[in-house]
Amino acid sequence: MSKGFTLWFTGMSGAGKSTLSEPIAERLRAAGHKVEILDGDVVRTHLSKGLSFSKEDRDINVRRIGFVSKLLARNGVVAVTAAISPYREVRDEVRQTITEDGAGFVEVYVHCPVEVLAERDVKGLYKKALAGEITSFTGVSDPYEAPVNPEVVVDSSKDSVADSVDKILEKLRTLGYLAAEKAA
Ligand code: ADX
Repeated sequence: MSKGFTLWFTGMSGAGKSTLSEPIAERLRAAGHKVEILDGDVVRTHLSKGLSFSKEDRDINVRRIGFVSKLLARNGVVAVTAAISPYREVRDEVRQTITEDGAGFVEVYVHCPVEVLAERDVKGLYKKALAGEITSFTGVSDPYEAPVNPEVVVDSSKDSVADSVDKILEKLRTLGYLAAEKAA
């Protein structure tokens, strides 16, 4: 059984966490890993249905995602998470819990300047947040605490998806988490 670990994406809404999680999952599967993606938007329709965007509820959401990731990683599955997870303390708590359990934790900070996110505004949420129609919106009217020492940083305003995927995989290789990739 290949080694399970958690690949934890963090970053603001629209920065590219989900966008990167898909090709990363594909590449990991091609390398022989079992992979599950825990996407914030999806988790909030099931496991965290009904939770708000208050600090308390975001922390609950992030702890739940961390808990499931731990169970997956412990069983040889790579858990790829894609939630904003804006608070450093809870991210670090999840890291601690997962590593204490004997699995790896790799944090990927998907950075993108808020001006670029507001310009992209794929879901139309920044416009609403800037107009005050959505309160407590991460990066506009609610905090985002960037990781101090993440394993990987990518900047989606500068780096292509392909380059970011390669950078993340290279890090996983260096850390010894990558099973041999089969020849394409
Ligand atoms: S987290 O803070 O609890 O980690 P999560 O990743 O699950 O957040 O959900 C974020 C998604 O919810 C965003 O991508 C966006 O589509 C939506 N959303 C709705 N309201 C907010 C808000 N106030 N702040 C941030 N995201 C919001």
